[in-house]
Amino acid sequence: MENKRPTWSSRYSFILAAIGSAVGLGNIWRFPYVMGQNGGAVFLITYVILITTLCFVPLMAELMFGKITKKDCIGAYEQVNTKFKIFGFLNNVTAIIIPSFYFVIGGWIIYYMIKSFVNFNIENPVEYLSNFIQNPYATSISTIIFLFICTFFMARGIKKGIEFVNNYMIPLLAVILIVLIAASLNLPNANLGLEYVFKPDFSKFNSQTVLTAMGQAFFTLSVGTGALLTYGSYIKEDKCIVQSAYTIIFSSILFSVLAGIMIFPAVFSFGLEANSGAGLVFVTLPKVFMQIPHGGIIASAFFILLFCAAITSGISMLEVPCATLVERLKISRLKACIIIFFAVALISIPATLSFGILGNIKLFGKTIFDILDFSASNILLPLNSIILCLIAGWFLKIKGEMIFKNDIFAKIFDIGLKYIVPMVLIIIFYLGLR
Ligand code: PHE
Repeated sequence: MENKRPTWSSRYSFILAAIGSAVGLGNIWRFPYVMGQNGGAVFLITYVILITTLCFVPLMAELMFGKITKKDCIGAYEQVNTKFKIFGFLNNVTAIIIPSFYFVIGGWIIYYMIKSFVNFNIENPVEYLSNFIQNPYATSISTIIFLFICTFFMARGIKKGIEFVNNYMIPLLAVILIVLIAASLNLPNANLGLEYVFKPDFSKFNSQTVLTAMGQAFFTLSVGTGALLTYGSYIKEDKCIVQSAYTIIFSSILFSVLAGIMIFPAVFSFGLEANSGAGLVFVTLPKVFMQIPHGGIIASAFFILLFCAAITSGISMLEVPCATLVERLKISRLKACIIIFFAVALISIPATLSFGILGNIKLFGKTIFDILDFSASNILLPLNSIILCLIAGWFLKIKGEMIFKNDIFAKIFDIGLKYIVPMVLIIIFYLGLR
């Protein structure tokens, strides 16, 4: 007897889970510093234009692909043509590679979160971070704990696991974010931080800004891994799929901007450097936490926020291979989760160690972590999205009229899906490889 496919309890559960997938480290950890480095408001405007227009097309195509085929990634592509199975396989490879480096940062967050519960007394954050990331035991164990939490909830299934986590974590995330913004805006000179985020610096606008905004938009929407295809395949009935897609896009923009409003006023208030890039969260912010009243509690709230954002995204990535294993090999969800646990552990441990004892292993001058990041973000994500648009537009024949009542919107969508978006993505893909 064939197992019945799981479905979301309601439209609300689906939207929350999709928001959980979209809103992650990409919004809260990466977006603020990328925006700061790329001209503040200029970057923000570019990002908003791209995410609501160009990125809407593959997002919609991926959701529709899942919703129509009601299959895992390999099954979905196979349904269009057996020869296309390989593309579903490629989605699965991507959905294993991204967690392999994403979960490394997830592990760091767990470590800092626990540290903040115990005693957040970090005298020298630079030295502290560098000692920690070079410690093979602490980092590996943290990564494994993060991976375990994700696979544990996945093993519980769609309703009891994924929905449960998102139902609690997304509202919690929103509440913590608002409380932290209030605290941050109350600090002296908070307006300097707001200026940094919102004041346009046109001198920083160039083709790189557009490319970075586009890459950022794709990553934050989770397009190109098959995560949305898989989540879309659990939709029972959704007549308002356009609204769902725009809710996901809107949330992604909102959380990104709010993260900037939370972080920069605090950073500027203490006269710290805002452009420390990836170290912003682990080096600059701890300096802030050390100086403000109730800094320990605020640090805990902040790392819980990052933890929730990362877990809900992490689960959505792993759901891709999970659905594939369950549906292709007809094994139980639990067995699939165990296999995924070991597969991701096998790649993420070397990635974790590449900040320390495996730091000398390099390919093209890149460490293991950087290779995984580069191959997923610059090669696999755009490649998968190009393939997705072409197959959805030319073979699956997803049409604008299935989505929009308005003829003009429907026509624009069709042209976007078949020609414009694949062409833009091919350019990005080419530039990203250089
Ligand atoms: N969108 C997530 C973030 O912003 C990352 C992600 C990518 C999640 C791909 C799922 C699939 O952090």
